This record gives sequence, C-alpha cells and structure tokens, in this order.
Amino acid sequence: MKQVPFLSFKHMHESIREEMTQAFHQVYDSYWYVNGTNVAEFEKGYAEFNQTNYCIGVSNGLDALFLALKAIGIKKNDEIIVPSNTYIATALAASYLGAKIVFVEPNIETYNLDVDKIEDAISPNTKAIMPVHLYGQSCEMEAIMKIAEKQNLFVVEDNAQSQGATYCGKKTGSWGHANGTSFYPGKNLGALGDAGAVTTNSEDFAQKIATLKNYGSQKKYYNETIGHNMRLDELQAAFLKVKLKYLQTWTEQRQHIAERYLDNLKGIEELILPKTHPLATHVYHLFVVRTEKRDALQKYLNEHGIGTMIHYPIPPYQQEAYMHLNIKKGTFPVADELASTMLSLPLFPGMEENEVDYVSEKIISFFQ
Ligand SMILES: Cc1ncc(COP(=O)(O)O)c(C=O)c1O
Repeated sequence: MKQVPFLSFKHMHESIREEMTQAFHQVYDSYWYVNGTNVAEFEKGYAEFNQTNYCIGVSNGLDALFLALKAIGIKKNDEIIVPSNTYIATALAASYLGAKIVFVEPNIETYNLDVDKIEDAISPNTKAIMPVHLYGQSCEMEAIMKIAEKQNLFVVEDNAQSQGATYCGKKTGSWGHANGTSFYPGKNLGALGDAGAVTTNSEDFAQKIATLKNYGSQKKYYNETIGHNMRLDELQAAFLKVKLKYLQTWTEQRQHIAERYLDNLKGIEELILPKTHPLATHVYHLFVVRTEKRDALQKYLNEHGIGTMIHYPIPPYQQEAYMHLNIKKGTFPVADELASTMLSLPLFPGMEENEVDYVSEKIISFFQ
C-alpha cells in the first residue's frame, strides 16, 4: 500500500545536507556557541525577509510571544484578546504575565480572528490584541490595526505558522508592535530543534527584548533588569541561516500542492475547503479541510496509509490548564465547531503530485 506521511523533512533536508553539515562544522570549529555572529547574521537576514527593522532570535515561539508581551509592558490583570481557536502557546504567553485572556471567536471561513467581534470584547482593562495567522494565512491586519489605534491598544502578532504570508502585500509579523514567531522544526522555517524570534520596528522594544532574553544584561556580568535565559543558540541560527535561503522556494511548493488539492477536491458537497481572504496570501503551513465526518475520514485515510492530524482537537478555553477560567462548554461555538470538524491533510515541500493525487482520490472515494 502507498504511504503518504503527514509531514516529511526528507526532501528539504536531503537537498541541503551539504550546506547544513558545513554550517555545523563552522560552529563546531569556531568554539563559540552562544551570542555570536551566526545569531546576529540570522537576525539581520530574517528582519530583511520579514520587512521589519529588528529581529531578535530567541529560544522558541512561546518565549518570543512572552518576551513581546513583557516588553510592551503587559502586567497582571491586563486583558489580552486571544482567538478562541489557536495553539495554546498564544494564551500561555499571556498567562505567564498574569494577564487575563479574553477569547474572541474566529471567522468560520478563514479560521482567523473575526474582526467584527473584537470591539465587543474590549474593556477599559484591555491592553493588547494577539492576532494569530493560523495555518499559514494572514489575519485581516488592516482592520485589526485600525481598531488597536482607535482604542489605544498594542498588537502582538503570533506569526508562528505564517512566515512569508502577507496582507495587502505587507508581511505578517511586521504589522504589530512586537511579534513572535516559532522555528520549531515543523514550521515553514524550522530549525533542527527549538528556536524562535521576535520581530519589531521599534528600537526601544528590540533593545528591551534583547536584554530580557539575555539575563537582563547588555554588558556581560552587568544586569540591569530581572531577565531570562531565552536565547537562540549559534548552532540553530547557523542552520536557520541556510534554510532561510530556501524558504521562498519551499513556500511556492506548499502553494502549488495546496492549489492541486483545491482543484482535485472541489465540488465535494460534504467537504469544506480552506478559503483565502482576497487581500491575504496563504503560505499553507497546514492544509485544513472541514467535514462533519471528520473522524471517519481520518480513520479511512489512515487505513490507506495516509497520515493526517487535527489542529486542534480541544480549544484552549476547554483545556484542563484553563479550567480555572470557568468558561462553560459551548461559550465559543465557532471554536468548538472547528475543533470537531477540522482535519489537516499531508502537505510538505517535496511532496509529489502523485502523492497529492493519491490523498485526493482516497478522499473522493470516501465521500462516494
Ligand atoms: C500558533 C502558534 N503559536 C505559538 C507556538 C509556539 O511555538 P514554539 O513551539 O516554538 O514554542 C506555536 C507552535 O508550536 C504555534 O503554532
């Protein structure tokens, strides 16, 4: 039986084996493993790619979001608007600072924060909005920035899943005041371990974050604030420098695979395909379809050697970690609906057309 994994690094990593090995040797032989030139060069390259003045490499995406929120001054009991459908990391970053999470439902078509529902959730205690560019598609950033400006709020984008996506031609991760991204291996730009970054156009926030991530220190053994050890290391930065060169090509491959799925799967009545907002570009971190028969479809595809995943089976407000918020089940029906109907299909750079067609054929035969 043909096997199609949900995700494979094989094509990507085989094609850059030589360069990645050289990157390893360069770091190994430099005898310099933390706070060095690889981090500085990667930060410069990623800032340029992301159309921001500054990029600060950090330990992972969750720490990036936490540091962004801390740098803008989020404190205990401040209210932060977070989409009700997201990976839990977005909410955790706010929780670390004792902030109060105010969930807002996503739009059922784009799966991203519903801009028409944001203003109703704003109170005198609201300090920030955290739009999450989920699955690879930008949120409606123009409208979100307008609301933030009008209400005097900060915006911290969660760009973990959308490196390279745009809204009105402007990159995600370049709109907000300080924005977090993740280079977890499976992300569109993935390290060979944990890594992340904050992107910002503010010199002040950039400096604060660079200090906070490094024990609150700009000068060795002089600590100006109670900081953290949330640094990106030289080895991951060296690997990321190599992979950044190929991100655009790999993104185009993702988009090509998505277009093939969209074409192959159109017209199936019981299957809802992902939609892209006309002003957004989609970098297809995930290809997420929806159907009432999700569990049966997943089982059927599994029986035919096809890997799938659910992103995410339980919305953050229903997680045990957030039971203390006492939010009743059913409070966020769109998030619940998404959690019970969504299925992510295999999609990765190097996935062959015959694999896309095999997955599509099996989906068509399931619904027949
Ligand atoms: C939407 C979102 N936000 C934040 C994160 C956190 O990133 P990391 O795993 O690097 O901490 C992830 C990924 O895991 C994510 O998908």
